[in-house]
Amino acid sequence: MRGILKDCSEREKLRYYHGLLGEEKYAALREMILEASKAVFLGGAGVSTESGIPDFRSKDGLYRKKNRKFARYRPEYLLSNECLTGKPEVFFSYFRENLDCREVQPNDAHKALARLESAGRLSGIITQNIDGLHQKAGSKNVMEIHGSALRSYCVYCRKNYGPDFIFQSLDPVPRCPECGHMVRPDVTLYGEILPDPAYGDAIRILQDADLLVIGGTSLEVGSASQLAHIYHGKHMVIINKGKTKLEGKADLVFHESIGKVLKAVSDSI
Ligand code: APR
Repeated sequence: MRGILKDCSEREKLRYYHGLLGEEKYAALREMILEASKAVFLGGAGVSTESGIPDFRSKDGLYRKKNRKFARYRPEYLLSNECLTGKPEVFFSYFRENLDCREVQPNDAHKALARLESAGRLSGIITQNIDGLHQKAGSKNVMEIHGSALRSYCVYCRKNYGPDFIFQSLDPVPRCPECGHMVRPDVTLYGEILPDPAYGDAIRILQDADLLVIGGTSLEVGSASQLAHIYHGKHMVIINKGKTKLEGKADLVFHESIGKVLKAVSDSI
């Protein structure tokens, strides 16, 4: 494949890749991974749907879920700093009901990415997810740009608490046993800035990557699409059931199950 494309223009290369179908597309993705010196994965909630965690914006996503208790609130409000500070009982009731992923297990997508990393074929994972499933699958270099629901801390004395504290606390608003102030999840809520070092590390790893695989994300949220625009490396691949605004820029686009695509490719490497 490399020989065919050697003297082609970028536009001709894009047209060639966009013409690939079926097995040829899988073979091209496999070759891009083998050829890359620094491959990076950027993912979202669609990576975890095959583990049973709904994503946010798909037809059966969390933002479409009908629940009388929260019907009067916009979904983005329920996961905002404004709700946490203004209506903490509502925030924690929604968070406990919808974001408890402690018992969830990694799926083929998480496992394939962990295998690629341990084989030296993936330099890092940038995830918008807060479920910790990449680490559970064995991935080491995971940049959680929206934090993690498995971590929490006291807003006053900053004491750290583990994955169970918020979900096991019987108080409507979990309180720090040390100082009595609220214990909040270590996640980036709407209206909050993205956490360093995760976001800074994500920018740095993208700046010298030569393959970016984007998967399981609608790229609707600014943080992810800004990161995708920082990347200017050789190849971009999108694996996403729904359409995304970057498809014109990507060499390969798979509107398929991310678990299926990543497992097939990582099994062959
Ligand atoms: N395989 C491939 N793609 C999938 C799969 C799957 N098994 N399941 C879902 N998808 C795709 C959907 O088609 C959708 O386009 O994953 C995408 C998930 O998009 P969103 O629900 O918008 O989730 P995400 O992009 O992660 O949202 C980003 O928004 O509300 C905030 O903080 C929240 O981190 C979240 C952010």
